[in-house]
Amino acid sequence: MAHFAALAGLGSYLPPRLVTNAELAARFDTSDEWITSRTGIRTRHWATPGVATSDLAVEAGHRALKSADLPLEPGAVDAVVLATTTPDHPCPATAPQVAARLGLGTIAAYDIAAVCSGFLYALAVASAQIAAGQARRVLVIGAETYSTILNPADRTTSVIFGDGAGAVVLSATPDADRPGVVLGVELGSDGSQQDLIIIPGGGSRERATPGSPDPQGRYFAMQGKKVFAEAVTRMGDSASALLDRVGWPVESLDHLVGHQANIRILAALAQRLGIDEERAVVNVDRVGNTSAASIPLALSDAAAAGTLTAGSRVLLTAFGGGLTWGAAVLTWPHLNVA
Ligand code: ACO
Repeated sequence: MAHFAALAGLGSYLPPRLVTNAELAARFDTSDEWITSRTGIRTRHWATPGVATSDLAVEAGHRALKSADLPLEPGAVDAVVLATTTPDHPCPATAPQVAARLGLGTIAAYDIAAVCSGFLYALAVASAQIAAGQARRVLVIGAETYSTILNPADRTTSVIFGDGAGAVVLSATPDADRPGVVLGVELGSDGSQQDLIIIPGGGSRERATPGSPDPQGRYFAMQGKKVFAEAVTRMGDSASALLDRVGWPVESLDHLVGHQANIRILAALAQRLGIDEERAVVNVDRVGNTSAASIPLALSDAAAAGTLTAGSRVLLTAFGGGLTWGAAVLTWPHLNVA
């Protein structure tokens, strides 16, 4: 029997510390006016020292399991897939720790590294695990603590990024028409442009040597202008290709949930796709760019606000370092949002 992966639970978590543009303007040569007009961001949340990505992932995962009416015990799900750019450690992966702390037993647990597209890559592999009959339910999490990798001397990246986590439960169904079924996924990459978004150190290219590591190489760096243009093109083209493949005319879409990188990118994306800007879900103003957590955080916010209603046609699309990008479509299901 064929299996399809359907959205059955959704949850999110933001660390409590709210960082305003005014606070950043006191620290950098920037202003609320610059940040708001260039990015649309007004606030973001940053984890306090000692709080790691797994701490946020556990909270969001717990809420998604509760929303799916699943207990914190072995057998609740068959796998945990965690998308992150900011794992607790370079080795091992963070997902096994999250699975253990949620009491989910000795199940498959692994990280996905696709930067801001990570959640869509994780959604794709988790759906494929279900379609292959390898799992009945999978907890898919996007969690980040970008505040730990921001260069304190770089005002451009420091004002953009925020911390947070979002999670969904995917559940197997034999019914392809059930609301929530991930109807299609499109993924892509262009490694020839890896330098546009990079943390140069801490991997095998720049070997660890005795003595103190160069902190400069451990910071996140981005060429914003080039990334902006690539983001609009790649998200737009992958979304269009997917809509063609599943046979959804763009006018039939109810909501566009794009990677929350910059309000101007979301507006340009809506325009490129020919979607009314009103249909674009926006929470970048409150949370900033949360990378792999961006899409599930936006979904959680929009579902909690009653914007996403059962039966709506939803397009997800993301773009990030790698370069990587992707899109997914589904009809929104009935969900209890935690
Ligand atoms: N405050 C004040 N001035 C600033 C700031 C700041 N925080 N940051 C940069 N500036 C200055 C620059 O120094 C520059 O000054 P200059 O003209 O004297 O040289 C000027 O503002 C313009 O800088 P630009 O980089 O051209 O500004 P731009 O309008 O492109 O906005 C931004 C920069 C917000 C980064 C934008 O390019 C952007 O959003 N890029 C896309 C980011 C993105 O989509 N990321 C998604 C993937 S991220 C991932 O995968 C992790």
